[in-house]
Amino acid sequence: MNNLSVNNKTIDTILVLDFGSQYTQLIARRVRESDVYSEILPWDIAEEKILDLKPKGIILSGGPNSVTDSFTPRIPKCVFDMGVPILGICYGMQTLAEQMGGHVISADQKEFGHSELEVLKDSDLFNDLDRKINVWMSHGDQVQDLPDEFDLVASTSTAPIAAMEHKSLPIYAIQFHPEVTHTDHGHKLLDNFILNICHAHADWTMDGLISQRIEEIKAKVKEEKVLLGLSGGVDSSVTAVLLNKAIGKKLTCVFVDNGLLRKDEADSVIRTFKEKMELNVIKSDSKEIFLRHLKNVEDPEQKRKIIGRTFIDIFDAEAIKLKDIKFLAQGTIYPDVIESSGSESKDARVIKSHHNVGGLPEEMKLDLVEPLRDLFKDEVRRMGVELGIPKEMIERHPFPGPGLGVRIIGEITKEKTKVLQEADHIFIEELIKADLYDKVSQAFAVLLPVKSVGVVGDERRYAEVIGLRAVETVDFMTARWAHLPYEFLEHVSNRIVNEIEEVSRVVYDISSKPPATIEWE
Ligand code: XMP
Repeated sequence: MNNLSVNNKTIDTILVLDFGSQYTQLIARRVRESDVYSEILPWDIAEEKILDLKPKGIILSGGPNSVTDSFTPRIPKCVFDMGVPILGICYGMQTLAEQMGGHVISADQKEFGHSELEVLKDSDLFNDLDRKINVWMSHGDQVQDLPDEFDLVASTSTAPIAAMEHKSLPIYAIQFHPEVTHTDHGHKLLDNFILNICHAHADWTMDGLISQRIEEIKAKVKEEKVLLGLSGGVDSSVTAVLLNKAIGKKLTCVFVDNGLLRKDEADSVIRTFKEKMELNVIKSDSKEIFLRHLKNVEDPEQKRKIIGRTFIDIFDAEAIKLKDIKFLAQGTIYPDVIESSGSESKDARVIKSHHNVGGLPEEMKLDLVEPLRDLFKDEVRRMGVELGIPKEMIERHPFPGPGLGVRIIGEITKEKTKVLQEADHIFIEELIKADLYDKVSQAFAVLLPVKSVGVVGDERRYAEVIGLRAVETVDFMTARWAHLPYEFLEHVSNRIVNEIEEVSRVVYDISSKPPATIEWE
C-alpha cells in the first residue's frame, strides 16, 4: 500500500516506527484523524521498506524496553539519512537521545500518570500551546544528558528533560504521550509536527479514499470473478459494497445463515445487501445442518470448533459451485494485520483468512483482495456510512462469529435459540428506545442452563432464566459492567417475562472483565 495515490496524486505519508508500545496504533490513528495518511512499520523492518514509503515525517513510538540494557531496539540508520522530520515519543525519545550521543538513566521510580509540563523555550512543536500543559507520562527511563546539538525545550518536576529539539535539524523528542486523550492538546502538538514541521498535506479524505480503492480494485481484478463471505458484520459488509461499486456483478457474496444470528438478522442482511443495494448475494440456509452438528454438544470450545468447521464446509461447497473464481475478497482491517505480529507479515494474512472463511480447497488457488487492509475500524465505519450502508448496521455492537452459539450455555436447540433471540431483541430494542444503546459498548442476552421456579396465575412452573449483559469498554480487553438505570432494567425484565412464555426470571450480570469475560462462554 505504499505511495498511495488519489487521482494520480501521491498521498503524503507519516511513518510510525513501532518500538512495541501499547499506544502505537493510537499514534497512527491520531495522525489519520488529521486527514494525513500514516502507516506503522516495526523498528526492525528491512530498510528498503522504510525508503519505499517515502514518508514526509517519522514518529518513533514508545516501547517496553530500556535503552540502558544491551541489545535493545534501535532506530535504523536510514531514518537519520533520509533528512525528514523525526519525532521521538517516550522510548523513541530515549533511543534517539542515546543514539545521538546523549545519556539515558533508569529513574528510581516509574512515572505513570498526569504530570505538569513547563515549556521553557519557543519551539515549532509547541506552537500555539500554553506554557504549562497537563501531560500523560508512562516511563521508567529518562534522558539525563542532552545529546550534542540538542536544546532543552520542556521539563516536568520529575523529568528535567521532558522535551528536546535539535538545534538545526527537524528532530524533536518528548517524554510524554501526546496521542492519549489524557494529554491536553496532544492533538495540536501532533498537528504541529505533521502539518507545520513535516508539511504533510491533509489529503487523506474518505471521498478520495473510496475512489482510490475502487480504482485499485478494478486494476487488480480486471475481468475476473471475486468471491466474498458476507457475514453482515461491518468489515465484510463494507468490503462487499466497495467491491460492488468497483466491479458490480463480477462479485458474488455468499451469506451462510447458521441459525445462530440475532432475531431477523438473516432477513435484514439479505434485504439490505441483495434487495436494496443490489449486490449479487447467494444465501445458504444452513440452519438445520448447524443444529444437527451441534446436537448433544455442551462444551463451549467444541461448539466453537463445530460452528467454525461447519461454516467452512458450507462456504467451500458454495464456492466450488461457482465457476472461474479467481479472487477471494476479505474484510481484513489494519488491527488484524498488526495485532498478531506487530508487522505486515504473511502470517497475519493467513490468520484472518482462516478465521473468516477457512481453508478453501487448495486447487482453487484464489488470490486475496483486501481493500480495507490498512484501515482502522472507525475509518471502515466512516467508509461504510459514506457508501450508503444503513447506520444501524454500521454502528451495531460487535457480535461473535459463533453467534448465539456461545450465548446459549450448554446444548443448543432450535427452541432455546428462539427464546434467546426474542429476549435479546427486547433488550436491544429497549436500549435503543431509551437512548442507551450507543452509550454501552456491547449488550446482549444469555440463556442460562438452569431452570427456576415462577408463578403464572395460580400455577408454579419451572422455566428458563435469561441473563442480561451490558459493558462499557474501549478495547474489549478490559470492560466495566454498565450501570444501567434500575427502572430501565425493571422494564426490560417485565417485558421479557411477560412476552416470552418460556422465561420466568431475568438476572443482570454485574461482573467486570477481568476476571469475567464479556461473553459467558
Ligand atoms: P470476551 O468474551 O473474550 O470477548 O471478553 C471479547 C470480545 O470478543 C468477542 N468474542 C468473539 N468473537 N468469536 C468472535 O468472533 C468468538 O469466539 C468470540 N468470543 C468472544 C466478544 O463478543 C467481545 O466483543
